[in-house]
Amino acid sequence: MSSYDLVVIGTGPGGYVCALRAAQLGLKTAVVEKRPAHGGTCLNVGCIPSKALLHASEAFEEATKHFPVLGITVGEPKLDLAKMMAFKQDGVDGNTKGVAFLLKKNGIDAVQGTGRLAGAGRVEVTSEDGGNQILEAKNVVIATGSDVANLPGVTIDEEVVVSSTGALDLAKVPGKLVVIGAGVIGLELGSVWRRLGAEVTVVEYLDRILPGMDGEVGKQFQRILQKQGIQFRLSQKVTGVERTGSGATVTVEPAAGGAAEVLEADVVLVAIGRVPYTAGLGLDTVGVQLDGKGRIQTDDHYATNVTGIYAIGDVIAGPMLAHKAEDEGVAVAEILAGKAGHVNYGVIPNVVYTTPEVASVGKSEEELKKDGITYNVGKFPFTANGRAKVNHTTDGFVKVLADAGTDRVLGVHIVGPDAGNLIMEVAVAMEFGASSEDIARTCHAHPTLTEAVKEAALAVEKRALHM
Ligand code: FAD
Ligand code: NAI
Repeated sequence: MSSYDLVVIGTGPGGYVCALRAAQLGLKTAVVEKRPAHGGTCLNVGCIPSKALLHASEAFEEATKHFPVLGITVGEPKLDLAKMMAFKQDGVDGNTKGVAFLLKKNGIDAVQGTGRLAGAGRVEVTSEDGGNQILEAKNVVIATGSDVANLPGVTIDEEVVVSSTGALDLAKVPGKLVVIGAGVIGLELGSVWRRLGAEVTVVEYLDRILPGMDGEVGKQFQRILQKQGIQFRLSQKVTGVERTGSGATVTVEPAAGGAAEVLEADVVLVAIGRVPYTAGLGLDTVGVQLDGKGRIQTDDHYATNVTGIYAIGDVIAGPMLAHKAEDEGVAVAEILAGKAGHVNYGVIPNVVYTTPEVASVGKSEEELKKDGITYNVGKFPFTANGRAKVNHTTDGFVKVLADAGTDRVLGVHIVGPDAGNLIMEVAVAMEFGASSEDIARTCHAHPTLTEAVKEAALAVEKRALHM
């Protein structure tokens, strides 16, 4: 029997990063993964393939719609979807192989198979061929991630009625795509297929898109997506999805009640959230407690109620984001090595990789109001930023929210070009407890999109220069 200081179950961004940090700190570490490739949801069927298709479909739209404006004539671009999918897969393979390389380089034993807790300090691993082995572990970190949330009564066949996994692998562009859920997946993958030629309708139960993000951002972003051709049906609930020959029908009715309506679709994407994945883990064998939402319950140090068993990432509370899982992986490894691992949940950036991108960090206006915190707002539109103007990418704005008393930055929200990269200067500033004046007084290179962040910070005290 092999014995370890740490066995990590699951090699998504949470698990493999945890293992790397633990090995760096001298812990004898093994990982257990049931997929053929490492990297979890994120690398195999999440962040990485979706960003590959967002990139490729954006290039297609650029070539179709924007090249003529730039004075580039290339003839009419044609879509080779099979090749685009091969491009995506190449990116996925490159990344998953990279994780295998890193595990090996750091002396981590990678055991393939399904891991199950088999009593205190024991992880049983069953491989595909039914083979069985026991790993002895001083500590176990559960990093088993999440799975697609299903709509009651709806069968996902991954061909016509698909989850994000099927939507990343369609064999042809659907004529009509109905997306259920105006969250991150619905808007990112809806954007991909619209750019490639689908007519996209997004049905959302709530009266807004991207719930949880700043309301003003949501409103403006919806207008931008509508301008691009995505149709929204807000405050509508889906009451049924039926397969009809090669397509499907989606029955919707007003969330508040009223007459039902039937939408025709070639493909239906169910994107109503994700649920923690704990199936088959044998949590009951040792008595690991779950919370009311089926997540593994942990304390501030990622410890479950059972000594020596920890959990991180999508399977515990908090935003289901790869970087949150990674940082928790590092923190728990450091805690196990006797250091002070910590994650600042107040400064976790959130990015939607559409065009334009949406990015936020810290509190939204709605949250500040709810918490009774008084704040000042500084806003700056990309229409007034030189670089955005010259590039014709002027949709969107930057909004800085700063404490009315101390000027400390409490939240920043961006809709606009490269928002996902722009948000990071603010995240660093917030980690250092910056005021909006600190950002405003920092020299920003010209001509860059970052000047919009500086101007929004200046606007907190009503002294934006280019507006
Ligand atoms: P996971 O990545 O889910 O990994 C868990 C691993 O555990 C899996 O490989 C699974 O096979 C394995 N496992 C489960 N049970 C067992 C077992 N019993 N034995 C052995 N192995 C097991 N987040 C972002 O931050 N940015 C993005 O751009 C982004 N895009 C996304 C796009 C899509 C379409 C989806 C679906 C998600 C996206 N996410 C994104 C979310 C991100 O993928 C997750 O937050 C992240 O993967 C969570 O990491 P994790 O390590 O907790 O779990
Ligand atoms: P989500 O939670 O972001 O959005 C789900 C949406 O579906 C919500 O707007 C919700 O109101 C709506 N909804 C729920 N039930 C519904 C119903 N019956 N009918 C109509 N609408 C309904 O979940 P999503 O988009 O599935 O993504 C899952 C997770 O993956 C997210 O938590 C996100 O953190 C992560 N992710 C992150 C990405 C990123 O960081 N760029 C990209 C993709 C996913």
